[in-house]
This record gives sequence, C-alpha cells and structure tokens, in this order.
Amino acid sequence: MILVTGGAGFIGANFVLDWLAVHDEPVINVDKLTYAGNLDNLASLQGDARHVFVQGDIGAPALINGLLNQHQPRAVVNFAAESHVDRSIHGPEDFIQTNVLGTFRLLEAVRGYWSGLDGSALDAPAKSKFRMLHVSTDEVYGSLAASEAAFTEQHRYEPNSPYSASKAASDHLVRAWHHTYGLPVLTTNCSNNYGPFHFPEKLIPLMVVQALAGKPLPVYGDGQQIRDWLYVKDHCSAIRRVLEAGTVGEVYNVGGWNEKPNLEIVHTICALLDELKPRADGASYATQIAFVNDRPGHDRRYAIDARKLERELGWKPAETFETGIRKTVHWYLDHPEWVARAQSGAYRDWLNTQYAPA
Ligand code: NAD
Ligand code: DAU
Repeated sequence: MILVTGGAGFIGANFVLDWLAVHDEPVINVDKLTYAGNLDNLASLQGDARHVFVQGDIGAPALINGLLNQHQPRAVVNFAAESHVDRSIHGPEDFIQTNVLGTFRLLEAVRGYWSGLDGSALDAPAKSKFRMLHVSTDEVYGSLAASEAAFTEQHRYEPNSPYSASKAASDHLVRAWHHTYGLPVLTTNCSNNYGPFHFPEKLIPLMVVQALAGKPLPVYGDGQQIRDWLYVKDHCSAIRRVLEAGTVGEVYNVGGWNEKPNLEIVHTICALLDELKPRADGASYATQIAFVNDRPGHDRRYAIDARKLERELGWKPAETFETGIRKTVHWYLDHPEWVARAQSGAYRDWLNTQYAPA
C-alpha cells in the first residue's frame, strides 16, 4: 500500500493510473480537489478496489494521521501543490498555504507515523523500508543564460516566482526533516511535463483547446523562452524508479533533454492540428498566434541534466518530444468531453481575465 497526495491532478492521476497498470499494490489517494483536481482523470478506476480516493487537505493533520495509521502505507508520494506560475503571481497565498505549510504539516504527520511518536507501531523492517518521495520542479533552480550548462542536482536554488519560491521552501523542509529527524525522504526535481489530463491553463493544452475553439493562441513576450519538456508517463516511470531504488536523502533531477522555445512548441502544435484536424477555411492554426504581454519575472530558460538518474538508477525516458507531442494532441482530439468539463466554471472566469494584447 502507498499513499499518494494530489492524485486527482495532472501528474498525480497519471501516476496512479500508471502505478496500478504495473503493480497490484493498492493506492490511497488524498486530494483536496481544488480547481485543478479532477475525478474525471480517475474514472477508469471506478470499481477498482486497489484505489481508495479520499477528498482532503495535506495540511489537515488529523485526516493524514488517521489515514497513515489506518492503512499503514510503506511509502508516501507527495504531488499535492498549487502548480501554476501565473496564478501564483496573481494570488500567492494559496501557494504558501499548500506548498509550504501543507508540506510542513504532511512532513510532521509522516514523521509521527514513521517514528512511532503518534502511537503507531511500525515494526523495524517496515520502518527501515518506509520512504517519503517529494515531487518537485526544476523551477527552484531559477533561470539559465543561453550559454549555461543544464541544471544538475548541485545547482544553487534561485527561485524567481511565488510558485517556485514556495516549491523551493518545500524542498528545504523535506531536506531538513531528513537531516534533523532522519525521515527517509527522496526528492525529484522535474522539467515541464505534458500529456493526457493536463489542465488547459498550461501552455500545451491551452494552445490545443484555444486553437480548436478558433481563439487566439497567447504567446507571452517574444516566445523565445525555453522550457525542457518531458512526457508525463516518463516522469511517472522516473518516480517509480526513484521510489524503488533511490538512496535515502538524495535528490534526483528528471528530464528528457528536450529544450524548446515556446514559439516552436506552438508552431508544432499548429502543424499537428493542421494535419489531424484541418480548419474548415483551409488556413493554418498558426494564423491564430497572438503575442501578448510577458509574464512578470518570466524565467528565460530551464534545462535539466538528468544524468544522475540514468547513471545511478538506469532510468531513461521512453518518448521523444516528437512522439509525445503527437500522442498528446491525439489525446485532446479524442477527449472533447474531458476538455469541456475541465473548462467549465471557475476556469473560464480565470482565463477570461488573462490575455491582454501586447
Ligand atoms: P496540478 O495542479 O495538475 O495538480 C495538483 C493536485 O493537487 C490537484 O489535484 C489538487 O486538487 C491537489 N491539491 C492542491 N492543494 C492540495 C492540498 N492542500 N491538499 C491535497 N491536495 C491538494 O499539478 P501537477 O502539474 O500535476 O503537479 C503535481 C506536482 O508536480 C506538483 O507538486 C508540481 O509542483 C510538480 N511538478 C509539476 C510539473 C509540471 O510540469 N506540471 C513539473 C515538475 C514538477
Ligand atoms: O518547469 C516545471 C514547471 O513547468 C512546473 O513546476 C509547473 O508546475 C508547471 O506549470 C510548468 O511551469 P511553466 O510556467 O513553465 O508552465 P506553463 O505551461 O505555464 O508555461 C510554459 C511556458 O509557456 C512559459 O515560458 C510561459 C509560456 N506561456 C504560457 C501560457 C500559459 C505562454 O507563452 N502563453 C501561455 O498562455
């Protein structure tokens, strides 16, 4: 049994589905169901006794303590977070609440369970095998100049947005709980993910759904900012591998060596849509591209050096960017109901406030 937090979100849901496709080991999935949490992502697990969903907050100690003691998981994998940089700029408080305070409270609950302080009685073998894996981001390392080498695990922390600062704080708490209390933690810092169930506020799914709706494709600033892209299922396999064989207290970068400027990503998506679902008027979707005001404090370039994970644990991504983006665009074309439901309510209100022309 493992306990996953944030397993109704984009990566967490992919992880739970992936885990149960390769293991029979049950999952307790605790998710607050914020605007980003979506039970549609887990619909294929309905009736599957290996998956137990609990709506709840990682910052609620009584709930988390109760679940740990009741289910006695051998591992906790923490995906729960506020994840969108733009939202963190407009309203940072939820990010501090969940990513900082929530992680702190989760760590305390897990420490109580693991150490027996809360009255739980993990026997010595269970205690020594227990792991807490904290899922984090490359954004904690800040922004790279064009000439700089990709981020290694030794790169200094230089977070620039409220989101990345809150994730950096959570990483430091995880590190400290290991150093001070001996909690058996693992941390992964991954590059930009994309794939099925990606909430359409993020670049790739947003461009697909805006294009199909005949709406502008908002590119921030000059569109030459670089992100390093990884297909979400490759992130899931990396987390499984780190959980299985990672050295306690270590940090592992996760990435697929796929640096791309944003504008190139948008053009790639347009070309795929031109091929797979051509516009009725015969024009390219690229005609919908609109340059808009830049994101304040926008990091120029991220790039992940994932050689430690490959060298020490033998992990490699299965998808190239070309195969992964084609699968992704197909997935969105095949799931219009998922898109429509994800786009309802609060999401639409938020999106409508966003894009001022440059
Ligand atoms: P997401 O926003 O799609 O999902 C986050 C999930 O956490 C949602 O289901 C939400 O309901 C849940 N949640 C939020 N606050 C909670 C709380 N207080 N208690 C319990 N559940 C809560 O995010 P994602 O893109 O799936 O990211 C998952 C994790 O991976 C995050 O920690 C993020 O920082 C990290 N990460 C994301 C990427 C990426 O490209 N998306 C890359 C690297 C790391
Ligand atoms: O690097 C990992 C991070 O990747 C994760 O930690 C975050 O949770 C995740 O949201 C993502 O952050 P980004 O800010 O890189 O992702 P986003 O999809 O919001 O933006 C990707 C790039 O595209 C970024 O340079 C901003 C730009 N962009 C984004 C949107 C939504 C646009 O140009 N137009 C847009 O409409």
